[in-house]
Amino acid sequence: MNIKNFKPKLFVILIFITIALVNSYSYDDDDYYVGAVLEYAPPAYNFKDPNETPVKYVLANVKQYNSYAQTAKNQGAQIIVFPEYGLLGGAFATRDDVLPYLEVIPDPHQSSSPIIPCNNEIFDNRTILQSLSCIAIENSIVLVADMGDVQYCDNSTSVDNCPSDGRFQYNTQVAFSEKGELLAKYHKSHLYGEPFFNPSTPPDPVIFSTDFNVTFGMFICFDILFEEPQKTLIEKYGIHNLVYSTEWVNVNYAYARGVQESWSKLYNANVLAANIGVTSAISGSGIYSNGNFINSYQNPTTKPANKLLIGKLPKDPTKSTSASNTLKINNNRGYESGIETIDFIDYEPFKREYDGKVNSIHGDIETPTSINATIIPFTISENQVNQTIVSSNNDLICTFTYSTGDKIDKNRLLYSLVSFSGNFNNFFNSQLCSASICGSNDPSSCFDNVFDSSSVFTSIKIEGNFQSDYHIVPTFTTYPLVDNYLATYQFGDQFISVSNIEQYFIGTSLFAIQWNDTSSSDNLSYEFI
Ligand SMILES: *[C@@H]1O[C@H](CO)[C@@H](O)[C@H](O)[C@H]1NC(C)=O
Ligand SMILES: *[C@@H]1O[C@H](CO)[C@@H](O)[C@H](O)[C@H]1NC(C)=O
Ligand SMILES: *[C@@H]1O[C@H](CO)[C@@H](O)[C@H](O)[C@H]1NC(C)=O
Ligand SMILES: *[C@@H]1O[C@H](CO)[C@@H](O)[C@H](O)[C@H]1NC(C)=O
Ligand SMILES: *[C@@H]1O[C@H](CO)[C@@H](O)[C@H](O)[C@H]1NC(C)=O
Ligand SMILES: *[C@@H]1O[C@H](CO)[C@@H](O)[C@H](O)[C@H]1NC(C)=O
Ligand SMILES: *[C@@H]1O[C@H](CO)[C@@H](O)[C@H](O)[C@H]1NC(C)=O
Repeated sequence: MNIKNFKPKLFVILIFITIALVNSYSYDDDDYYVGAVLEYAPPAYNFKDPNETPVKYVLANVKQYNSYAQTAKNQGAQIIVFPEYGLLGGAFATRDDVLPYLEVIPDPHQSSSPIIPCNNEIFDNRTILQSLSCIAIENSIVLVADMGDVQYCDNSTSVDNCPSDGRFQYNTQVAFSEKGELLAKYHKSHLYGEPFFNPSTPPDPVIFSTDFNVTFGMFICFDILFEEPQKTLIEKYGIHNLVYSTEWVNVNYAYARGVQESWSKLYNANVLAANIGVTSAISGSGIYSNGNFINSYQNPTTKPANKLLIGKLPKDPTKSTSASNTLKINNNRGYESGIETIDFIDYEPFKREYDGKVNSIHGDIETPTSINATIIPFTISENQVNQTIVSSNNDLICTFTYSTGDKIDKNRLLYSLVSFSGNFNNFFNSQLCSASICGSNDPSSCFDNVFDSSSVFTSIKIEGNFQSDYHIVPTFTTYPLVDNYLATYQFGDQFISVSNIEQYFIGTSLFAIQWNDTSSSDNLSYEFI
């Protein structure tokens, strides 16, 4: 977890080469904007250094943000999105531990005049807000980052349920304009193993508009799976552009990029998603439009890496026609319409054993993978036609039908069909159908994160009898990634069917969470597909 391992000289050279080789996008094109996301792995907090303090630590990350914002700006980016916990890191476990990292963030929606923290003495002891505001000004770029908000309270004068320590503490996404003005703050609603923060209850939908005339919805990590605030963002505010800061823990039925792509596809939206790149298990960032990859990245190693992605997006993705019928390969290295930038590491396909626990920057966390799912392992062979596997769990019956061709990896023939219906470790009620390659030929590896494969499934269909009040996240993952395989999927479909597949098959899933207010799910499908 040490950025210093990354050979600073090489880093500098790469920046120059990159700048020399790529063309900047033009600002004149009114129908498009250029977005950037940074997958960023904050270094480990140096407990051994007596001079290390939370503020120093955060400012070191801020400095990195500045240099990436500069690179992004030089390549034409008008907005840059940074990941969840990218500034704060993870050297805290309690509410008191995290307090020195937090700042009182004013709510610009409650303020009659613009709030510009840069060079503003009122903010002299709120160095994060001040520096982010200055970075936005210096680079004339809209900046979205994740930090921590503390709001002091007491039960007599302020809101109810003031925590006993007298502080609300929030995981908070902030947005600044090119002029350094605080545009919005959003409090994470659905926390994931973050006992030091309060959730926003009820979820608070937040949007902001930029000078380049795009209105963005905001949310953080786990929020992407839940009904609110996203339903309000879509239905009430008509959002088609999303800034998404995340520390997504990959599971093989919901890889970070798959979930991001899926959201973009389901809502005909642009998604600017920035993940922490601590290791392959917590990685996967991208820029998406209408379910298409403009640019994306997945850290293929167990080492931390940073990666800046830039892409050009239609301001109104619903009017974009370029989307559907051609296959566009995204091999983690950017492609046609995306710009590749700084790459610290050489790409090697990577496969990781997985035991349901992930070493996150906050220590080991139990993922929702430890559930009593039904796992049906099966072995593939060449030229199979419409083989059908069935897996059922409680009331859910999953069926997977596949065909293979000549391209089969004879050393890795084991796949599995997983079904689950029930409560996911108190996170939510869920139903899941997932067919994917196992980590090895040992069936105990059949729920592992796997990022490569060398067998082609020429066609697949996965389906399940999902309850109608469950919201389905469809994903389809190949190596390399291809972005239009979900093109035929329609909002609410209980199946994914794809044929003429040429890429190596990793997995496909229908991962559904119970959304209790079903009154509007029909409205979603009507309006947005
Ligand atoms: C920051 O400064 C303000 C006055 O400008 C003061 O009221 C506040 O207590 C200070 N906060 C901290 C954390 O020092
Ligand atoms: C405020 O009230 C809640 C609920 O009664 C209680 O749990 C909490 O400790 C109180 N907070 C303070 C700061 O007294
Ligand atoms: C922003 O969009 C609105 C509505 O589409 C349009 O009327 C306005 O002229 C646009 N402004 C700029 C600066 O492009
Ligand atoms: C799985 O099922 C076993 C046996 O019924 C039970 O003891 C265990 O608690 C279950 N585990 C989970 C995570 O539900
Ligand atoms: C296999 O299934 C697909 C999709 O249902 C169908 O179009 C195709 O005709 C089937 N092939 C054979 C040989 O049955
Ligand atoms: C949805 O309903 C189920 C069953 O009534 C309940 O267990 C669950 O907590 C509800 N979820 C939410 C987010 O309200
Ligand atoms: C969805 O549409 C129905 C029928 O038009 C309407 O009654 C309901 O209020 C709508 N729900 C929302 C959340 O807009």
